Amino acid sequence: MPFYHKVGEIPRVKHTTFYQPDGKTLYREELVSSKGFSGIYSTIYHHFLPTAVKSVKELGHREDDWPEAPALYYHCYTDKSEKKGNFITARETFLKNHTCKISCARVTEDTNDFYRNGGGAEYLFIHHGTGAFYSQYGKNTFGPGDQIVVPRATTYQLKFDDFKNNKLLIIESDTAFEIPNHYKNEYGQMTEHAPYSERDFRPPEYTEPKTGTGDFRIVVKMKDRFFEHIVPHHPFGAIGWDGFLYPFTFNIKDYHPKVGRIHLPPPVHLLYKTRSFVVCNFVPRLFDFHESAVPAPYFHSNIDSDEVLYYVEGDFMSRKGVEEGSITLHPGGMPHGPQPGKTEASIGARKTEEYAVMIDTYEALQPTLAVKKTIDKDYAKSWL
Ligand SMILES: [Fe+2]
Repeated sequence: MPFYHKVGEIPRVKHTTFYQPDGKTLYREELVSSKGFSGIYSTIYHHFLPTAVKSVKELGHREDDWPEAPALYYHCYTDKSEKKGNFITARETFLKNHTCKISCARVTEDTNDFYRNGGGAEYLFIHHGTGAFYSQYGKNTFGPGDQIVVPRATTYQLKFDDFKNNKLLIIESDTAFEIPNHYKNEYGQMTEHAPYSERDFRPPEYTEPKTGTGDFRIVVKMKDRFFEHIVPHHPFGAIGWDGFLYPFTFNIKDYHPKVGRIHLPPPVHLLYKTRSFVVCNFVPRLFDFHESAVPAPYFHSNIDSDEVLYYVEGDFMSRKGVEEGSITLHPGGMPHGPQPGKTEASIGARKTEEYAVMIDTYEALQPTLAVKKTIDKDYAKSWL
């Protein structure tokens, strides 16, 4: 999405004959388009029909609702969850609403299965682990801090280098993750005051098309239902593609923070927007430089948003008791702010070394049973 990209072989002119080396079999052209035909799109050239499906079976629902969850401040330790599995089955949702699901996954095993979220776009934050993300667009290598944006309906696999310590934060959205318009000029180029530039984004790299035939299993997610699709050709059989719609990677350590004379609110940490929530990156930065500045945030009632933080690394300046892998939820409709002593401790501090991912949703989030299982029971009273 950050810019036009081309990988592999494509015909000189769109929608014209493009033959395989035998001179008589056509490559199959597929347009992957958003917002009907009015949004960004890519054109993919496959060895085989992308529509071929041998069998379909429903795999069921995921039951994780916690309808009795009280209206409270929440803190949970996602690393205390015992759920494990492969990059598909390890996923455990902690917070959700109709437009957004926030999940974690401890990936402890490999699988040959493929995954496709047919109901939404995904953001994958690699907290721990190295490896490669493979899709019909090619290969995106990843390591700690990488954030991969996966367009809706992308078929993909995550291949980890090992299974000693792999942890993902996953955000699903019913609309696309987009670079905010105010970071781009009227021509679509990123401006000099954006917190990143085109150079910081990594598009897919070319990989040899896979032309194997057999039974390939794709787990297809449609909203809350899961299906098994068995397809007769390897899903990554494209010879080439071009366009603006593709998975891309940006590392949290490449986010250039802004600082002010007095405290600046979270919109200065904005990374991506969707129609229903925003994602921000908190990274090491110098604190406010007014002689009497209070670097810790003031108390805040965000009357139209729920605020979620996923803690990645470092000492988080406004929170007590949080650990790497902690999630906090401060619901809209309730004031929130630094815990006792944290405001005073921030005065005179010069910088912070924190890394965190923030999600602010416009629709209220519902904590799931995963929150109930890993909750910090004392957090809601930690302001007393
Ligand atoms: Fe806030």
